[in-house]
Amino acid sequence: MTTTSNHFVRFVKRPEGAPTPDVFELGEAPVPELKDGQFLIKVCYLSMDPALVGRMRAESNYADFVEVGEIMHGYGIGQVIRSRHPKVKVGEVRLGQFNMQEYCVCSDAEDSTQINSGLAEPSWYLSVTGITGMTAYFALNDICKPKAGETMVVSAGGSSVGVIAAQMVKQIGCRTVAIVSTDEKAAQIKAEWGYDAAVSYRGKSVDQLQADLEKACPNGIDIYFDNTSGDISEALLDLYNDYARIAVIGRLGIAHLNDTRQDIGRRDNNVTLAKRLTKKGMVLFDYKPRSMEAIVQLARMIQRGELKFSEDIVEGIENMPAAFFRMLEGKNQGKQLVKLADVDAGIDPAPVVIGKLLRSSDMLTGLVAKLGSRKKAA
Ligand SMILES: NC(=O)c1ccc[n+]([C@@H]2O[C@H](COP(=O)([O-])OP(=O)(O)OC[C@H]3O[C@@H](n4cnc5c(N)ncnc54)[C@H](OP(=O)(O)O)[C@@H]3O)[C@@H](O)[C@H]2O)c1
Repeated sequence: MTTTSNHFVRFVKRPEGAPTPDVFELGEAPVPELKDGQFLIKVCYLSMDPALVGRMRAESNYADFVEVGEIMHGYGIGQVIRSRHPKVKVGEVRLGQFNMQEYCVCSDAEDSTQINSGLAEPSWYLSVTGITGMTAYFALNDICKPKAGETMVVSAGGSSVGVIAAQMVKQIGCRTVAIVSTDEKAAQIKAEWGYDAAVSYRGKSVDQLQADLEKACPNGIDIYFDNTSGDISEALLDLYNDYARIAVIGRLGIAHLNDTRQDIGRRDNNVTLAKRLTKKGMVLFDYKPRSMEAIVQLARMIQRGELKFSEDIVEGIENMPAAFFRMLEGKNQGKQLVKLADVDAGIDPAPVVIGKLLRSSDMLTGLVAKLGSRKKAA
């Protein structure tokens, strides 16, 4: 017997070149009854991630690609509304690959993670304390290793990952330089996110972009936070200082290619050797065991007012395709999310109070002081 209808977005066509809206189709099917060992997630938020373009191509990647006809892949936050799983309770709020749909039947509890809404708001687990914030946090700590006085360039400088990385290194005392699509966007993100300089790439040759970057980075480049790859990244090659670090985070600049073997440009071995560059790819999946460290640190930075962020939320599964293309066109003002339902805080069994304590180090300090004064009084 079925009780609820599930609306979803199906992937129906591999893109030729850049993806177009006809790769998606809306659909509806009954939610199946659960079998033993399964639980049902009501999806509350979906994340519109640029990396999903990579899943549309039938080529080797760090994540599985989506088959034509399948529900489009994607990460989300959802709440368990039914459970026949021995370890999963109704009401739990979880983060996982629930795909572009309203309800998701899950079998393996390890495939998703219970979150604590006291430590961070549910939507933040897809943005500032989640996928985007953690990517910035681990790439900076493990690859970029910024030092005061250094210059960091961020491609897709207005992206959610980019603005978090830029704010974090700015606090250390680095010069931050963004690469974005247009001059208008360059002015906007400089004002909004505190970049020292911002240059535009759209319509420019590699040499023109290099000349603009040279002016924006008078002391050369020590760190490149690379969200794009492709021609944009080639424009930095002659500007690196000795021992510069390059974190390869994303491939937005080559997302229009059917096959990444078509990504042809100047080879970088000569510069890598001569300047002793360190270039390393970073995939957030690898950091799952350390995710709590990043969530707590990021939540505390927000609490202390050291980290700003924004979310751009549209509502309804029927608006997911438009939200996805809005993000690819760079029209999103903050992490692009799609909201499908509210989280029901009243049924969440997570220890929310402990989450709040972890988020607020001041609160912890206050609590310790309070306990100390009680001891003295006794
Ligand atoms: N490695 C990992 O584990 C991991 C995890 C999460 C995210 N990422 C990567 O981090 C990057 C940012 O992700 P996000 O979620 O923060 O993005 P986002 O907030 O959705 O922003 C995407 C931005 O990318 C820019 N863009 C779009 N197409 C572009 C193109 N063809 N060339 C250059 N820039 C383009 C647009 O800005 P403009 O208007 O300025 O072009 C757009 O605003 C992506 O590369 C993503 O794949 C990696």
